[in-house]
Amino acid sequence: MVDDVLRSALLFRELDDEAAGALRASMTEVHLSRGETLFREGDEGDRVYVVTEGKVKLGRTAPDGRENLLALLGPGQMFGELSLFDPGPRSATATAVTDTTLWSLSHADLTPWLSGRPEVARGLLLQLASRLRRSNDIQTDLVFSDVPGRVAKQLLDLSTRFGVPSEEGMRVVHDLTQEELAQLVGASRETVNKALADFVSRGWLRLEQRSVVVLDVDRLRRRAR
Ligand code: CMP
Repeated sequence: MVDDVLRSALLFRELDDEAAGALRASMTEVHLSRGETLFREGDEGDRVYVVTEGKVKLGRTAPDGRENLLALLGPGQMFGELSLFDPGPRSATATAVTDTTLWSLSHADLTPWLSGRPEVARGLLLQLASRLRRSNDIQTDLVFSDVPGRVAKQLLDLSTRFGVPSEEGMRVVHDLTQEELAQLVGASRETVNKALADFVSRGWLRLEQRSVVVLDVDRLRRRAR
């Protein structure tokens, strides 16, 4: 099970079983409790991590204390490589939003794989490229989309990664508080709550504790455009 999740990470995806086993042998398991911080923006970084269970939020804090979430990562997703490729401090704070299991690999152990196995380097380049693409989309949406449009888009994104189909619709357990959801959208809690309440009143979704049930995905998709 853990192996399946690890194998789905871009770091491993193109490796054959033998190489994947060897890479995994240099990794160690890390457990975090909900709310526990793994590292902070500005720390020195020397390891990459793959989430195998649970969720991790990556956030940045403004000088006035406001917080913005860059991403919410779930099983199979990796982070912590920027401080390897562009040596410098950690670019974000990583905090568990649920009890979480990660597999960690030191930058020193990863480096020989980058030169010895082009598949590993390719996997990491793919990850960097897709993250840049996503960041560009987010930046464009911050300029051109209104908050309800961004909320709709974020819910759809969460639903593709964490959604589980149910009789009513897609149940998405995001494990975020309303404040954190607003930080992920990049808007105030009040505006995000207003957008969510509007979607609920239209029958597009139902709100539950740290989760939503998407009842009308087509309407939500149209609103996200
Ligand atoms: P590093 O800077 O070592 O530590 C924080 C990590 O967060 C960083 O490496 C990346 O792996 C990850 N990260 C930074 N920015 C983003 C982003 N916009 N989306 C997803 N992950 C990110």
